[in-house]
Amino acid sequence: PVLRNRLRSIRFIHSDVGFAFDIDGVLLRSKTPIPGASEALKLLQHHKVPFILLTNGGGTLENQRTEFISKALDVPISPLQIVQSHTPFKTLVPKYSKILAVGSPTVKDVAKTYGFKEVIHPMDILRYNRSIAPFSGTTDERLLELSEEIPNLDKTPIDAVLVFNDPRDWGADIQIISDVLNCQDGYLNTLRKENQSKPSIPIYFSNNDLLWANQYTLNRFGQGAFRIIIETMYASLNDGKPLENVVIGKPTKVTYDFAHHILIDWRQKLLDGKTNVTDQLLPSLGEEPTSSPFKEVFMVGDNPASDIIGAHRYGWSSCLVKTGVYRDGDRLPCVPTMITNNVLEAVRQALKV
Ligand code: G3P
Ligand code: MG
Repeated sequence: PVLRNRLRSIRFIHSDVGFAFDIDGVLLRSKTPIPGASEALKLLQHHKVPFILLTNGGGTLENQRTEFISKALDVPISPLQIVQSHTPFKTLVPKYSKILAVGSPTVKDVAKTYGFKEVIHPMDILRYNRSIAPFSGTTDERLLELSEEIPNLDKTPIDAVLVFNDPRDWGADIQIISDVLNCQDGYLNTLRKENQSKPSIPIYFSNNDLLWANQYTLNRFGQGAFRIIIETMYASLNDGKPLENVVIGKPTKVTYDFAHHILIDWRQKLLDGKTNVTDQLLPSLGEEPTSSPFKEVFMVGDNPASDIIGAHRYGWSSCLVKTGVYRDGDRLPCVPTMITNNVLEAVRQALKV
């Protein structure tokens, strides 16, 4: 068996096979590890098969997220091995200086660490004037805790709205986003005259998941549901004109291209024995890899509308697991390469071990 294992390691060391793992519903359910997840990743590490985590989740920095997962699954994972929904926003730093970062309160720090010069959260706008969102669900006490007073909030324009993860105070967030999309040149407290598809400032959504799976028995609304509300409100306020916006995250090609670059880069680091380095070359948004060393990449996911259709359209193999959003008998947008009970079964079946 020792020789067989060694032969296997040699067979996979110059791997032309790679994996991308979804997190929620595949490796974790909320913060709890899913049975088989740890073994699945250990198996790949043993065989030196390159893999990354490709999630539509976010809200924390890449290194915070991999640190948590490494501990939870007892597998060392580098911050260079993860693409969160908002990781590609890093490439927008040179483009926008003052942004409205929407999502959990933690996204403000994420955006600042990415390098955005001025970062405003909807809670800061609410603090500046409570009447902006009269039906906000945030208490005064919580608002003081979560927000800061930002000088000249209304004196300089906001350049873009970036939705980092699922908003937390939908009432306030919908109102504030709507205000800035329809304002004059990015200035708060103003209202532009013309109705048009192009908003006053660009808006980016980092994922389009209508539903996601948490501890509750039924699937819950995700950022995709929030986007539908924003678009509906925008069209209602603009003579039915549809909102021009950018959506990234799975299943978009933009995110699969981005993830493909990261997976190629990680494979090279594995081959070079440089997995401890921290520098990573980021592709620009929408840039296709010119070539790929992979014969086959497996996307392991629980959400047919995100992981599976995204992989299918991108030309990757897809492994649909039954530990998250998908339930036996649900309608599928395409035929997955395989359907397995869990992530460990998927990895074993893909590697034929
Ligand atoms: O859309 C919510 C998010 O939690 C989904 O994460 O890892 O299943 O792509 P993931
Ligand atoms: Mg998932």
